[in-house]
Amino acid sequence: MEKILEDYTLKGKELEIRTYPDPVLTKVATEVTEFNDELKELCINMLYTMYNAPGIGLAAPQIGISKRLFVMDVDFTREETAEDSGEYVLGNFNPRIFVNPVIKNKEGERIYQEGCLSLPDIYEDVKRFDHITVDYQDTDGNAHSIDAEELLSICIQHENDHLDGIVFIDRLSSLKKSFFKKKLIKAKKQKS
Ligand code: NI
Repeated sequence: MEKILEDYTLKGKELEIRTYPDPVLTKVATEVTEFNDELKELCINMLYTMYNAPGIGLAAPQIGISKRLFVMDVDFTREETAEDSGEYVLGNFNPRIFVNPVIKNKEGERIYQEGCLSLPDIYEDVKRFDHITVDYQDTDGNAHSIDAEELLSICIQHENDHLDGIVFIDRLSSLKKSFFKKKLIKAKKQKS
């Protein structure tokens, strides 16, 4: 597939996305303490990798870095340039970066079908909080807080789980969870 990031000045490097059962995905990530150019470059490369995948969120452990940060864009569009061309144009960019996020004020309940770049081909309904407040830092270390609901809220909860070594199938019934874990382990063995 041709990768196009048209109308988008952010050029980055494509990073390798780790897939389950890579041990980095089940590790609790550590706080980001250094706010420097290296951190900014990492976030740009993570956004670039996320848009190319394509996905709406990507957490640092998913690219093998066990640090508390994730990137997301729940607004961008992706359109095929011509039918069956395999080429896409991305637009309406709204990239977000969350460093050292802390979720508070969890309210309500919402069920949404989730997927994950680290768990290929699995899509399942997951129960999350409907409305949350998130405290986080930007790449300069400045503190922010936002209220989130709907897809943004769900995506933040999903990505924040990655920082705690939790993947979305961990949120399913134990029967479903073991079924999908076996499936993922088998798929990875066949690939390697
Ligand atoms: Ni994920």
